[in-house]
Amino acid sequence: MTESSLHTVEFRDVHTRFGANHVHRGLSFALAPGEVTTLLGPSGAGKTIILKLIIGLVRQSAGSVKVMGKEVADLDAATLTALRVNTGMLFQGAALFDSLTVFENIAYGLRERGERDEDKLAHVVQERLRMVGLPGIENKLPSQLSGGQRKRIGLARALATSPKIMLYDEPTTGLDPTSTRMIDDLIIAFAREQKITSLVVTHDIQSARRVSDRWMLLSQGVIAADGPVSQVSESNPLVRDFISGSWKEAV
Ligand SMILES: Nc1ncnc2c1ncn2[C@@H]1O[C@H](COP(=O)(O)OP(=O)(O)O)[C@@H](O)[C@H]1O
Ligand SMILES: [Mg+2]
Repeated sequence: MTESSLHTVEFRDVHTRFGANHVHRGLSFALAPGEVTTLLGPSGAGKTIILKLIIGLVRQSAGSVKVMGKEVADLDAATLTALRVNTGMLFQGAALFDSLTVFENIAYGLRERGERDEDKLAHVVQERLRMVGLPGIENKLPSQLSGGQRKRIGLARALATSPKIMLYDEPTTGLDPTSTRMIDDLIIAFAREQKITSLVVTHDIQSARRVSDRWMLLSQGVIAADGPVSQVSESNPLVRDFISGSWKEAV
């Protein structure tokens, strides 16, 4: 197994159906290590499902989904858990546990993984809080934080297990411009400094331009455009329609 296959995600001719709803109709792409790829596409196109396929929450009807060289659908429960530890997720809404402190929210994944050393947990929590620019708020509850701060705690939690892959589902939706910028900068920093392979789903074209090395456009069940941002955003007619808002809903 090569180093790159350890860190990447590869889809080959993936089909996903829910009853008569044929969401993915032959998806093929691979994520390069350390790169930030943004996945664009209209609502209902199947973007979130792509993230769920990567962590084995949904299973494809046909085709191959490999993460770090392994076919996700074939993994036993223990290996799937290990895969999820290596894959950080920031899902829509950040989904913090409201009754748990910031500390316990961030430590959650590590405790799940069996970490019992309280000093080590405290160290990791402090370190992740520092990384997201919110040191010293371990004892607060999510209800005491702003929306932007909650997102950053969601990020700190996703990073607690030192993932190789980060999946972001609409990370800046509902945030003010300052918080949006902060999240964007963190996504870039994690990819650059920790070489985290990142897949970002967003409707925010400004963020997509800022954070991405590459854009993919999901339309009618396939990757309809794929390439470096400057190239795809200027010369692909589908992408140009999509970002200019003159998109004809065709999913
Ligand atoms: N667990 C599920 N069961 C049945 N249908 C689903 C399920 N999850 C998503 N879908 C359907 O799949 C399609 C794509 O959903 P999704 O990936 O959430 O789209 P989006 O691109 O907006 O993130 C939608 O039509 C949605 O209704
Ligand atoms: Mg979605």
